[in-house]
Amino acid sequence: MTALLELTKISKHFGGVRALHEVDMAVHAGEVVALVGDNGAGKSTLVKIVSGVESPDEGEIQVRGEARRLESPRAAAEAGIRTVFQDLSLCDNLDAVQNLFLGQERYGPVWSGRRVRRHVMEEQAQRVLESLSVKLRALNTPVVALSGGQRQGIAIGRALISDPAVVILDEPTAALGVSQRGEVLDLIDRLRDQGRAVVVISHDMKDVRRVADRIVVLRLGSKVAEFARGGYTPADLVGAMTGAHESTNEGGDQ
Ligand SMILES: Nc1ncnc2c1ncn2[C@@H]1O[C@H](COP(=O)(O)OP(=O)(O)OP(=O)(O)O)[C@@H](O)[C@H]1O
Ligand SMILES: [Mg+2]
Repeated sequence: MTALLELTKISKHFGGVRALHEVDMAVHAGEVVALVGDNGAGKSTLVKIVSGVESPDEGEIQVRGEARRLESPRAAAEAGIRTVFQDLSLCDNLDAVQNLFLGQERYGPVWSGRRVRRHVMEEQAQRVLESLSVKLRALNTPVVALSGGQRQGIAIGRALISDPAVVILDEPTAALGVSQRGEVLDLIDRLRDQGRAVVVISHDMKDVRRVADRIVVLRLGSKVAEFARGGYTPADLVGAMTGAHESTNEGGDQ
């Protein structure tokens, strides 16, 4: 099966710092891949590269088997890749619908003065939130009043407005309480069930074990291990991240 997103030998330097060194990664439809590693391992740099925020020094990016250059966030979006960054970038004073369509508002025809088509956006907002089972009491309250889990739901919903094949989530459960964390993990399961390719960055190994079909471990810019669901122990995972033992387990039975 062709991967929706495939990275081959991606390298990136910042001055003298080697942020990424020949990293390979593939994500398929209906698959959640967790990207883990200690601080400075290169996770955010890899996400920025596939989001069109940074360009790699070397390596190739393929989307559905075709080489693509993701020169800008717009180019990445056009290639069907959407990213939910850790800060969510929601506008607190705007409501759910306005946030969902921020920068991608639906307008009426020119002869009508290109007015924002609120009812069109509301209908689509309803559909997207329903597809994620995000429940809001009203679509028109400012999002500042919502819970952390609901806000994450809106940020993910915004990524889904353009129906992307690949969704990337940077630390989606950080700063959430236990029950809201569960809600967001359920959201990630739904993205998988919708047949999307999902990449999740997380520092929480419990969340990673719960949600990931595959885990890619980065350390000091290199991929040091890859594990399939059921093919590793918690100790394998931590060992690979810290370098306590070099793991080459590719996900075999244990
Ligand atoms: N814009 C930049 N300029 C210089 N160095 C950078 C830049 N961005 C990242 N780096 C360096 O590249 C390396 C990888 O950083 P990156 O932010 O990708 O790590 P990370 O895995 O996301 O870490 P964290 O878990 O702390 O978010 C680090 O050594 C970092 O200092
Ligand atoms: Mg980071």
